[in-house]
Amino acid sequence: MNDVQYQVARKEDVSEIKNILFSVRGDSSKFNYQDFVVALKDKKVVGCIRLKNIDNDYYELSSLAVKPEYRNQKIGSQLISKIIDKKTEKIFLFCFKFNCGFYKKNGFLEINTKELPDTLKEELIRVKGLLPSNQKIIAMLFNKK
Ligand SMILES: CC(C)(COP(=O)(O)OP(=O)(O)OC[C@H]1O[C@@H](n2cnc3c(N)ncnc32)[C@H](O)[C@@H]1OP(=O)(O)O)[C@@H](O)C(=O)NCCC(=O)NCCS
Repeated sequence: MNDVQYQVARKEDVSEIKNILFSVRGDSSKFNYQDFVVALKDKKVVGCIRLKNIDNDYYELSSLAVKPEYRNQKIGSQLISKIIDKKTEKIFLFCFKFNCGFYKKNGFLEINTKELPDTLKEELIRVKGLLPSNQKIIAMLFNKK
């Protein structure tokens, strides 16, 4: 959409990002606003995404959320494409099974958790500990084309 702007988050976006993440029970642990890209409409944050640099060799994509009234307008997909940009490192993510289809459409492939780097295996254990045991978490890797 032409009237949505995408940019690296600024300090003044922090409370709106946190509100959006809170509303979807998204991940706001180890919050560093400079890791986020935001989607702005009329200067208001309507969506956000984060890329955490892990050990300099690879990234974890997380904290993707779009306000309900702005969904299905490609903002989520644009946020993914803008934050990945031309990165050449591996980009992993964790998601619920029901979101796998969305990420597949956006270039990610499901992987076996055994393929995760050690730091992310630890992160997976932490994330699982926060969720009800019936919620299956899927690991995915961005498939560069
Ligand atoms: C997931 C989310 C970020 C998508 O944002 P969005 O701006 O609506 O995404 P887009 O408009 O780019 O893409 C929507 C497309 O994905 C599809 N889609 C959305 N959720 C999907 C899902 N769970 N599985 C499969 N497809 C899905 C839509 O049907 C639509 O398909 P189309 O392009 O063929 O019409 C948004 O629904 C959201 O904020 N959800 C709550 C938070 C969340 O679950 N975040 C992900 C954490 S892992």
